[in-house]
Amino acid sequence: MDGILERLLTGEIVSGQALSEAMGVTRAAVWKQMEQLRAQGFVIESVGRQGYRLTACPDTLMAPVIRRGLETVWAGREIVYLKSVDSTNRYARELASRGAAEGTLVVADEQTAGRGRRGRGWISPAGEGVFMSLILRPQAHPSQVAGLSLQAALATARAIAHVTGLDARIKWPNDIVCGGKKVCGMLLEMNADEQSVHDVVAGIGINVHQRDFPPEIAQTAASLDLLTGTSVNRAALVRAFLQEFETVSSMAQAGTLMDAYRERSATLAQRVQVIAPAEMFTGTALEVTDSGSLIVLDEQGQRREVLAADVSVRGLMGYA
Ligand code: BTN
Repeated sequence: MDGILERLLTGEIVSGQALSEAMGVTRAAVWKQMEQLRAQGFVIESVGRQGYRLTACPDTLMAPVIRRGLETVWAGREIVYLKSVDSTNRYARELASRGAAEGTLVVADEQTAGRGRRGRGWISPAGEGVFMSLILRPQAHPSQVAGLSLQAALATARAIAHVTGLDARIKWPNDIVCGGKKVCGMLLEMNADEQSVHDVVAGIGINVHQRDFPPEIAQTAASLDLLTGTSVNRAALVRAFLQEFETVSSMAQAGTLMDAYRERSATLAQRVQVIAPAEMFTGTALEVTDSGSLIVLDEQGQRREVLAADVSVRGLMGYA
């Protein structure tokens, strides 16, 4: 199916005979695949005796559609599209443990057991969002991996801003908020031993077409469609994310990542409430360190380093 779709995506008229020869399948098999593509919303004209022409493409995350116009060197050089999966992170971790290359992307139309931070779930209804996991193989000590979470957050925020025009900001550590509401969450999972990192899976969930949310998140979450009043193209978001991830990785190497991250932060210089596993306090967010922790000046004037916590930012996601 991918081979036929790739040829149709060129926009040229492609003959059934040429397709059947190139793919090594019968004309009847080509016709069947055309019908399957049509059933998925692709508008394919039959042009006389000349062949087939694609005139409209649905909002799909199929790999050839994401790859169209993608100019990355390593991010997304392998794209695995799944119609439905329990969790793209679980699937990508399994691929990584079997040696999948850095930059392999797993993307699904639906997750039946999407995983969120702190053991929570991630609601992932079919066709409504982007659910994807990127495999990374950093040459880093396990203690440096938190920095990758900043890279993933910055790349995603820039991609959302680029595609939608929204002012996408990062709420530490890596929620993306637009108009004060969460539109995207991330879960990075690492496979490492004491000395070295084998792989990291950066899992990203973006709310795109949702019109409503379950009561427990209805006040804090939004979708890109609701915020823009348009229908945002999911493949364009994935493509922009892959491009931005490479740009942001180069920024990390050149030492310019943190300035760009700070500019996109919704947390820095704001009043925050920190809810860590063992304590809760309020203060002012001062800084995000290169290794990804948040420095907060508490009400007693003490600088406190927060490594992992839920942080509410005044004025965002319902925190007054
Ligand atoms: C959060 O709690 O904010 C993080 C949510 C992360 C969800 C994404 S969706 C794609 C990937 N696969 C998962 O199972 N989780 C992440």
